[in-house]
Amino acid sequence: ALISLRQLLDHAADHGYGVPAFNINTMEQIQAIMQAADDCASPVILQASAGARKYAGEPFLRHMVQAAVEMWPHIPVCLHQDHGASPAVCQQAIRSGFTSVMMDGSLLDDMKTPAGYDYNIRVTRQVVEQAHAVGVSVEGELGCLGSLETGRAGEEDGSGAVGTLSRDQLLTDPEQAADFVARTGVDALAIAIGTSHGAYKFSRRPDGEVLAIGRIRAIHDRIPDTHLVMHGSSSVPQEWLEIIRAHGGSIRETYGVPVEEIREGIRNGVRKVNIDTDIRLAMSGSLRRAMMTRPEEFDPRKFLAEATRAARMLCRERFEAFGSAGQA
Ligand code: G3H
Ligand code: 13P
Ligand code: NA
Ligand code: ZN
Repeated sequence: ALISLRQLLDHAADHGYGVPAFNINTMEQIQAIMQAADDCASPVILQASAGARKYAGEPFLRHMVQAAVEMWPHIPVCLHQDHGASPAVCQQAIRSGFTSVMMDGSLLDDMKTPAGYDYNIRVTRQVVEQAHAVGVSVEGELGCLGSLETGRAGEEDGSGAVGTLSRDQLLTDPEQAADFVARTGVDALAIAIGTSHGAYKFSRRPDGEVLAIGRIRAIHDRIPDTHLVMHGSSSVPQEWLEIIRAHGGSIRETYGVPVEEIREGIRNGVRKVNIDTDIRLAMSGSLRRAMMTRPEEFDPRKFLAEATRAARMLCRERFEAFGSAGQA
């Protein structure tokens, strides 16, 4: 059944586990996530970006998720709008049947200007009023997602500037988080604690703590009833990079967030863990390998089934590692 993010994460908080939120765009991705959840009895967060709606088309996305709920009626599913850029995008998602929306008002807030902060509060508060009236949950974002290694704001900063942000500018401030939650009423909050979007998070193999775990704890202590969200949580499996490179792909040396570090984040209060890149890597790696090793094959289902299998295994590993397995 479809449930709200608030319902799903309240259970996770009560039982001390984290839930991966996987991005969906295609039927194969939805099937892989649902099969993996069924394999290990995990609740599910399916999240769709504006780009996903553009790729699949709103009716396809909506009906594919309905089909998933029909096929796996015993699995609790939250359908979440990822990175809604405006109240209008969130409104559209609510109309489309989403049970949770993210109002990402943090873009103008990047440099922590008062105007940016006020804008973020205003638009987020507006979405909370509209969403809560119909039982839909809201995720807000405060701070600027970016790697602590590079001081780079990842894909959130269109300037392409490197190393321009200090460690403090890259981390969400606990006092501001408390103020933001009090003034908006969000159910969940995306925090900047050292992660960034995409495959290129760290240029060196992580050695020791790569996230600001102490900051997660400090924020969680200030807003214990607001569920913390970690964006940019792909682990960028080296095995998949090697398979991609061995089959004609070219991806330069790069590292993600170690799964053990995410587990430490969950122990300190993180509940929703956003993953898109890892599924992209597993699917494109398995597609490349399947197409190169079976040159006589031309039935796309043979290739796509490999990609679904690879994504399913990856999702199952995350459900198990984050503790949501067995909780459905
Ligand atoms: O945070 C961004 C997600 O990875 C979604 O990416 O906008 O390319 O669908 P997308
Ligand atoms: P990754 O790029 O690390 O998979 O993060 C995805 C994300 O945060 C979607 O909102
Ligand atoms: Na989100
Ligand atoms: Zn994100």
